[in-house]
Amino acid sequence: MACIAMLGCGTVGSGVAKLIYKNRDRFKKNLNEELILSKVLVKDINKHKEKNKDYILTNDVEEIFNENVDIVIEAMGGINPSYEYVKRALLLKKHVVTANKDLIAEHGAELLDIANKNGVELRFEASVGGGIPILKSLSECLVGNKIKSIKAILNGTTNFILSKMSKENMNYNDALKLAQELGFAEANPESDVMGYDAARKLSILSTIAFEKRVNWRNIKISGITNIDTEDFKYAQREGCEIKLLAMSELQNDELYAAVSPVMVRKNSTLGRIENEYNAILVDGDAVGDVVFTGKGAGMFPTASAVFSDIADIIQSKRESTLIFNYDKADVNTLWKRESKWLLRIKTEERIKAMETLTEYFSNCSIISKELYNLDGEVAAFVKSQSEAVLDRFIDDIKERINTEEIKKILILED
Ligand code: NAP
Ligand code: HSE
Repeated sequence: MACIAMLGCGTVGSGVAKLIYKNRDRFKKNLNEELILSKVLVKDINKHKEKNKDYILTNDVEEIFNENVDIVIEAMGGINPSYEYVKRALLLKKHVVTANKDLIAEHGAELLDIANKNGVELRFEASVGGGIPILKSLSECLVGNKIKSIKAILNGTTNFILSKMSKENMNYNDALKLAQELGFAEANPESDVMGYDAARKLSILSTIAFEKRVNWRNIKISGITNIDTEDFKYAQREGCEIKLLAMSELQNDELYAAVSPVMVRKNSTLGRIENEYNAILVDGDAVGDVVFTGKGAGMFPTASAVFSDIADIIQSKRESTLIFNYDKADVNTLWKRESKWLLRIKTEERIKAMETLTEYFSNCSIISKELYNLDGEVAAFVKSQSEAVLDRFIDDIKERINTEEIKKILILED
């Protein structure tokens, strides 16, 4: 018999409870193991009164640490008190499964170390890519590869918002509200829309892929709050979609890592990923390009990943191959490859801005004022040798003309 207790019963927790119930007979038949979900911790029991439950709700965390409990599932979110509870469970020699990327990005190395020292497992497949089995794939199936790069859509909420804005002309606020109602967004959706959630996931993925500890705070992060309807029109003109991309790439001893809105071709692998779906493109030196895609957020996709961790622990399939105690990575945040960029220069001095643009970039295509709403703005597509060169231009033009804001968006060709 495997006795499971759970911290939290919101979108993820209630999905996990349902999956455990649904799979109980099959588990018993195939593995001769009984799965028991005993206690579930919530903050406000009254909120859950109407639910038809086959487990006991509690708001006393001591009941979770009962000596009969073998596995603790953490589905509360945030760092406090999740960190304290997970640490305590591991020290009490209970296996832990969590969907919490904030916790793993911040304390993963320490918690994995505690788990190892206490002879128990800490699993977190659901923390990256929702239902996509990406951590196991990286740490097991692709173990014979030196990973060269990762390009990914890692946040379901922002991909949902960008899809609705692009395809259905929905406004940003309505799309965010819908994503919250569907259970995709974090308790504080700032984490999604500002790009922090994707950066934490990228740090977990990159640490495993590149065997260097990547601190999410060293990743350059831009969210989607600055994306407006004009950006979608320019993307459309180029045959592109706008996606919040999380990218990391090993460049000699440095690791490039950034999260930002990027234009990708409509018919490319990432351009076709819509709504809450995520996709992860991994380039390995032996395997070449591999694509993982599926639902990156939501009740059952996430519960599916949590359940696979529970099943692995119960079947004692193997010792965890997830390692975090690598040397710290030196993170570079500037895109080094020659690429095309959209530049939007907010200024009343349009002529001067256009002159400076053509002076700097021989390959510069300035967008016609007649076709777009370009009052007080110059928009252009430019080809730059690197992001550093582009930034030098931006600094220079700021010296030459009065400008409120200069926005740049990378166009990814491959
Ligand atoms: P949620 O719907 O807000 O649920 C959180 C649950 O935790 C609620 O049941 C809440 O109790 C309980 N809780 C929170 N703080 C607590 C405390 N201090 N003491 C006791 N109970 C507490 O969150 P969620 O969407 O399920 O997300 C949970 C975790 O999974 C987060 O780490 C999130 O990032 C991660 N995740 C979510 C998704 C997704 O699609 N939603 C996907 C992958 C990973 P009450 O019900 O009483 O309020
Ligand atoms: N808020 C997260 C997202 C949940 O939208 O991707 C899945 O981690």
